[in-house]
Amino acid sequence: MIWGVKPFASDLSEFLDASPTPFHAVARMRAQLVEAGFRTLRETDDWGGDLPAGGYVVERNGSTLLAFTWPGGTPETLALVGAHTDSPNLRPMPNPLGVSEGYLTLAVQVYGGALLAPWFDRELGLAGRVIVRGADASPEVHLVDSHRPVGLIPSLAIHLDRKVNSGRAINPTAEMHVVLGRTSGQAPSWGDWLRGAIDEFPGGEVLACELSLYDATPARILAPDSWIVSARLDNLLSCHAACRAMLRADAGAFNMLACHDHEEIGSRSWPGAQGDTAVAAIERLVPDPVRRARLLAASLMLSVDNAHGVHPNFAHKHAAQHRPLLGGGPVLKLDEAQRYAGDSLQIARLRLLAERADIPLQVFSVRPDMACGSTIGPISAANLGLPALDIGVPQWAMHSVRESASALDAEQLEQLLAAFWSAAG
Ligand code: CO
Repeated sequence: MIWGVKPFASDLSEFLDASPTPFHAVARMRAQLVEAGFRTLRETDDWGGDLPAGGYVVERNGSTLLAFTWPGGTPETLALVGAHTDSPNLRPMPNPLGVSEGYLTLAVQVYGGALLAPWFDRELGLAGRVIVRGADASPEVHLVDSHRPVGLIPSLAIHLDRKVNSGRAINPTAEMHVVLGRTSGQAPSWGDWLRGAIDEFPGGEVLACELSLYDATPARILAPDSWIVSARLDNLLSCHAACRAMLRADAGAFNMLACHDHEEIGSRSWPGAQGDTAVAAIERLVPDPVRRARLLAASLMLSVDNAHGVHPNFAHKHAAQHRPLLGGGPVLKLDEAQRYAGDSLQIARLRLLAERADIPLQVFSVRPDMACGSTIGPISAANLGLPALDIGVPQWAMHSVRESASALDAEQLEQLLAAFWSAAG
């Protein structure tokens, strides 16, 4: 069923559960777009500005997705929306299996700025991309998902660490091995263990893999305020809202969605926002440098990433008058040092757009005596050469394995982005 038809909150839950890794999120978004009539382009194919008018999807590395509507001819503006597909998590080390006290254990590395404590006592699944030796010895790519827990990281009992509630550092290398089960001998090979743990694991020798652990608990909606509680809200919530909006975008205008991998580790990679995925596509579509420069200068990028909703137990961590509420609507994220992209003219443009779409906006700016996070907004603005503005839905527990936000805010974000893409051109 096509997005936009199902109720928003259950649709979002389904997307989150089906997308334990960026590879799965991109595959899911691509499938939805293709079902709605978007055509797939490959970066290795010969295509450019002579493409017939229509909707198109391009992937890079299977973990970054571009979707755009191309009007044909010589469009004069681009309405770009950016988001990211990755989330902080725990990932297996390259040779992760070991034996400790008769248990088979899996050593992890931390991807991005993860909150570590919430990973204890979770039922953990395993998913990602696996490359096996194909029939003709060429690499064969598969997405895999255990669809069930394969292990857990038990807490240490309070009786064995009486001071744990007064603060204890967590060392992920020493203390966060995932316990997989009992073993009487040596650790099996990684490929053999994966084949036993993951149904439908591909045959053939495992040449390489990129796997992530995930909380196998499904997303849930909490009444009465329609809070959604799930992993990866940062930033699959934004990918989902933007992808739904793209399905309703004005096909007669040049609209683009860029969902990038690797934001949580700084965006400096081939598929990341510092890479040239979007730059290269725009260069193909608008090859003349003067026309392209004119187009970009007249364009706008909305960088969409979740914001910090005020926490009622820690309200002092937010500056007064800058405390977004869950359910209060999307947030303008402002920072004088451009760790969030924006300027007064772009803010005014968004305010007018939100006013027309009847969507409330909240404002966040970090407490001036605290460090501000960042987004792909400033990176893309500098990399592409166009004005950008950071917005996002307020959430709690950013970078926890169980985050929370309001599904009502997420739906308003979709409406705001749909308005952005219908007003463009
Ligand atoms: Co984010």
